[in-house]
Amino acid sequence: MKNLNFIFSIPTLIIFGCGCIKEIGKKIKELGGSKVIIVTDKGIVSSGLVEDVKTVLSNECIGFTIFDEVEPNPLDTTVERGADIAIREGCDAVIGIGGGSSMDSAKAIAMRVTNREGTILDYVGINKVKNIPLPIIAVPTTSGTASELTIFSVLTDSRDMTKISIGSDLLTPKVAICDPVLTSSMPPSVTAMTGMDALTHAIESYVTTVATPVTKALALESIKLIANNLRKAVARGEDIQARENMLLASLLAGMSFRHTRLGIAHALAMPLGSWDIRLPHGLANALVLPYVIEFNLPGNLESYAEIAVAMGELPGGTLRETALKSVKAVKELIRDIGLPKNLKSVGVRREDFDRIAEEAMKSGNLAVNPRVCKKEDLISILEASYEGE
Ligand SMILES: [Fe+2]
Repeated sequence: MKNLNFIFSIPTLIIFGCGCIKEIGKKIKELGGSKVIIVTDKGIVSSGLVEDVKTVLSNECIGFTIFDEVEPNPLDTTVERGADIAIREGCDAVIGIGGGSSMDSAKAIAMRVTNREGTILDYVGINKVKNIPLPIIAVPTTSGTASELTIFSVLTDSRDMTKISIGSDLLTPKVAICDPVLTSSMPPSVTAMTGMDALTHAIESYVTTVATPVTKALALESIKLIANNLRKAVARGEDIQARENMLLASLLAGMSFRHTRLGIAHALAMPLGSWDIRLPHGLANALVLPYVIEFNLPGNLESYAEIAVAMGELPGGTLRETALKSVKAVKELIRDIGLPKNLKSVGVRREDFDRIAEEAMKSGNLAVNPRVCKKEDLISILEASYEGE
C-alpha cells in the first residue's frame, strides 16, 4: 500500500477576488518596494489594464517604469533588455502582468538584476540562481499557466529558437494578485488555449507517480471547475462567474503541479513551442492530451476513471471502460471550445516528429509520468495526434 507521507508548501501569498488588483500598492510597500518595473506586453497596455495598476501605484506614491516588449514565447534577449532598464531606473521590485509570457519574463528580469554574471543562458536549468531576485508580484490576466505560483521561467533561446527553462525556488513570486475581472477581456481563442493548459496541468498532476492526497484533491477540484466553466468562459467572455471559476481552477492546478511536476503532454509541448513550429503552449497541450491519456491509461486506470467522472461522464462497465471515457470527455471539450483537433491541421510536419520526440525525452516531467515511455512511444503519440479526430 502506498504510504501517505508528503510535504506541501506554497510560499506565494495569494490574493484572489474581483477588484483585488487595488491591493497591489500596499503589497509592494510591504515588500519594501519604492520603484517597480511593470513587465507586460503591448496588448495588455492597449487593453487599459496597466492604467488601473498605474493609478493604484500613484495613489500609494510608488514610482514605476513600464517594459511592454514581452512577446509570445519571450526571447532571452528581451529579458536582458528588460533587466538593463530595471537596473538603469533603479527598480527594487517587479510586477509581471499578463499571461505566462509576461510573468515568466518578470521572473527572469527580477533574477537577472541581482545575478549579473554571464548571460541569462547561464542560469538555464534547476537551481542555478545564486542571489535573491528582486521581489516579484505576479498578476495573471489569463487562466492557465499558473506561473504566478511556480518556480519556473520558460523562455526561448534566440540562438536556435528552442524553449529553455530556468527553475529555482527563488523565482517563486512573493505575491499573486488574482483578479478575475482582469481575465474577462481575454478573447475566446486565448481563453480556450489557456484553459486547456490548466486542464492539462490538473490531469497530468493527478496521475503522476508522486501525487499526494493534497495534490490529488486540488487537481480533481480543478478538473471539475474546468469541465463546468471553460465552455461558458469561451462562449460568453463576460460571464464573470465562469471567469472566477477558471482563474481558481488554474490556481488549484498550479498548487498541485508545483509539487508533482507534469507528464508527457508537457514534455511534448516544449518542442512543439520551439523552432519554427512555435505553437501556443496551451494549444500544443490540447492537441496531444487525448492521445497521451490513451497511452497512459494502463499506468493508472483508477485515476483516469476518476477524471472521467469529474468531467461529467457516468461510471459504468469495467474500470477500463470508465477510464477511457476521460479521452472522450477531453475530446468533446476541445471540440466545444473550437480548438483544432489534430497536429496536421495546424501545420506540424511529420518529418519533425523525430526531433520533437528527441527533445521531449530530455524533459524532467517524464520521470513522474504514470507509464514509462521511450522515444518510439512519443512518436506513436505524435502520429495519433497528427490524424486525430
Ligand atoms: Fe503548461
